[in-house]
Amino acid sequence: MKYGYFDNQRKEYVVTDPCTPAPWMNYIGNGGFGGIVSATGGGLTFDGDPSNRRVTRYKFNNQPKDRPGRYLYIRDEETGIYWSPTWQPVMRELSFYECRHGLGYTRISGTYDQIRTQITYSVPLKKRYELWQVEMTNLSALPKRLKVFSYVEFSWNDAKYDMLCHWPCMAFKADFDGRKILVDTVAEQLTGTPMYDYIATDLPVVGFDCSQEAFIGAYRDESAPEVLDKGICTNSSMYSDNCVGVLCSEIVIQPNETKHFCYTLGASDDKSAINGQIDDAFSDTVKNNCVDDIKEMWNSYCNCLQVETPCEDMNTMLNIWHAYQAKTTFDWSRFISVYERGVDRGFGFRDSMQDVLGIIHAEPEKAAERIKLLLSIQCRDGSAKSVYYPATKQAVGGGRSDDHLWSIFSVCNYIRETGRLEFLKETVPYADGGSDTVLAHLEKGISFTMSHLGKHGFPDMLVSDWDDSLAPMNKGGKAGAESVFVFFQLAHGADELIRLYKYAGMIDSIPAMQQVYDYCKSKLPEIWDGEWFIRAFTPDGAKFCTHEDEYNRIHLIPQAWSVLSRLADKKQADMAMDKVMEYLYTDKGLITHWPASEGFEPSRKSYFLFPAGARENGGIFFHSNTWAIIAYAMLHRGNDAFRCYESILPPRRNDIADLCLTEPYVYSQTMLAPPHPRAGACVNAWLTGTASWTYLAATQYILGIRPDYNGLVIDPQIPEDWNGFQATRICRGVTVHLTVKKDGSSKLLVNDKPLNGKIIPWKYFSDTKELQAVLYL
Ligand code: GLC
Repeated sequence: MKYGYFDNQRKEYVVTDPCTPAPWMNYIGNGGFGGIVSATGGGLTFDGDPSNRRVTRYKFNNQPKDRPGRYLYIRDEETGIYWSPTWQPVMRELSFYECRHGLGYTRISGTYDQIRTQITYSVPLKKRYELWQVEMTNLSALPKRLKVFSYVEFSWNDAKYDMLCHWPCMAFKADFDGRKILVDTVAEQLTGTPMYDYIATDLPVVGFDCSQEAFIGAYRDESAPEVLDKGICTNSSMYSDNCVGVLCSEIVIQPNETKHFCYTLGASDDKSAINGQIDDAFSDTVKNNCVDDIKEMWNSYCNCLQVETPCEDMNTMLNIWHAYQAKTTFDWSRFISVYERGVDRGFGFRDSMQDVLGIIHAEPEKAAERIKLLLSIQCRDGSAKSVYYPATKQAVGGGRSDDHLWSIFSVCNYIRETGRLEFLKETVPYADGGSDTVLAHLEKGISFTMSHLGKHGFPDMLVSDWDDSLAPMNKGGKAGAESVFVFFQLAHGADELIRLYKYAGMIDSIPAMQQVYDYCKSKLPEIWDGEWFIRAFTPDGAKFCTHEDEYNRIHLIPQAWSVLSRLADKKQADMAMDKVMEYLYTDKGLITHWPASEGFEPSRKSYFLFPAGARENGGIFFHSNTWAIIAYAMLHRGNDAFRCYESILPPRRNDIADLCLTEPYVYSQTMLAPPHPRAGACVNAWLTGTASWTYLAATQYILGIRPDYNGLVIDPQIPEDWNGFQATRICRGVTVHLTVKKDGSSKLLVNDKPLNGKIIPWKYFSDTKELQAVLYL
């Protein structure tokens, strides 16, 4: 069953049935003031920081789901009947409903009793407020006398305390001051910085409510507020209680008349600046241009890479939604979504370091800035803290075996994209004092791992490796398990640095790194299990993920990373990746390992927190699928690479959305797989490492458009049944128009001139704005 369709012309996903199987969200704002908004108006708003400067509440994992949000109630004053044009929260059946999620804005239209209302939610570029632009049309033959009520539920600024206990409510004060409802959170008393929230409308206000109790009434909910039944606001101010933003206005609308009006919801630490912000929001300049400006901003972002391939779903994702998701994930790491509550995750070192990969092509300087920020939570010994909170500038956690190794690939990709070798020399502090160059930070990561090898000579798993769910195996980092994943990451990092040194002419640095790589190479036979690589050594020294194991016989990650690290030779790598296809492939994605284990039973080598088929325990964990796609492409197995890529394309879930649940326009983190009874259900849409890595896998490995040190590589690994594709990629300020055609001649022409190999040297990128490239395969 489906709930909507893609309108690629307008870069929108159109939800046509509001009763989606999970809240289908969008993000408004970009990296600063903003929030999430569902197809029925649900969601929350925050002032640049969802944890410490939350503006409105959202009741996560609650029933009814996806509440509250940015709502309007419309009440017919003749009949007393009221509805919401976003369907929620009143849920009165609409004769027409449509939600258009666009890049940076959401437009929801709903018609009831011939009153068509369209609300466009956006955060105008660089503003600290959101704007709800309403267009209301009377399609009936009679004039209508209506009342419109806004509704938001304000949060205390500190979202965690707002969820944990009641006392923050005691601090709240809110009242209508003739222009707006102003909420004073008294945040300055605890944080030193004031925070005022507000909501205002450009319609004359005839009534208001700031007290939730007064508006909704006892034992009711947002679907049927007492005030709507009575039709008249109580004009409540609010002291020490739950706080809402209800502004009531009267509208008389003639047949065929269309009215335009607006609401703005914002925040400020300066009370005296708020009326100015409201004037700004309601100015013609902002109202007339904000959505177009947002569209233009996203168009120019997406235009950094546009493709036309034989696969429509691939085009939809790469040209629109995937680029958007990767940037959104970069902006919000794992901080705030329907599944991440915006209170405890900040920027993960490993997560955000990987997110960088998905935006380097479009915003290399933002990537560099983020890389440096994350490197600043690395410690002098080379390990890294796990999470950084941008608002409080605090870093916490640490002691994991993988974090510090993720930076190498991100930095190398940044250099390949930009050629800016100077970046390596920039100075970045350590979390525990002192500072060093970017390059030294990377090298320290390698030394840290080399000085934390376990009894078999493989990296100690420490608190955990990338797979958090395996953490119980090593009992808080102390039991002596060794990670084969980190082993391959180490080799991958060493290999990357060797390539970098060669390019940078740092010949003296090569031998030490080569030693690391050679060491890894020498250890390879110890982890080969005959047909594939094992995943780890357990604390008692046993091999984990072998032919003999009852559970977890073959694991996806070591096979893929044996290829990424270039440690396995072609024959071994092909065999391992054959086994991935044989044991782990499903038509909805690769499962993490096979067979999934039942619960936590170390005596039977079952260490997973989750049940069989869920998440990292034999579920389809999309993030790790991407490494297999890259591995197949590196092995020149275009059919297999594409087969895996195609199976996880979100639009493939569009027509089975009732099974898969989450948004078909973005990647989810995971899908439950058999033997899980809810196999097919996806969880955790939007903020996932899947976004950046699949983007890389699809664009740089399947389509093969990959910046390298000496030039732009064009080395597609496409399926046999494709005749070619076209792409436009902006790289180093030059727009490359690429056509790939199959004619068996295997040659690359740039501006009609034949080149050697499949690389356009960087010298072609100077003194020009455009290049025409044709690759014949
Ligand atoms: C989630 C976490 C990430 C972890 C992965 C696998 O995506 O955000 O840090 O590596 O799960 O456990």
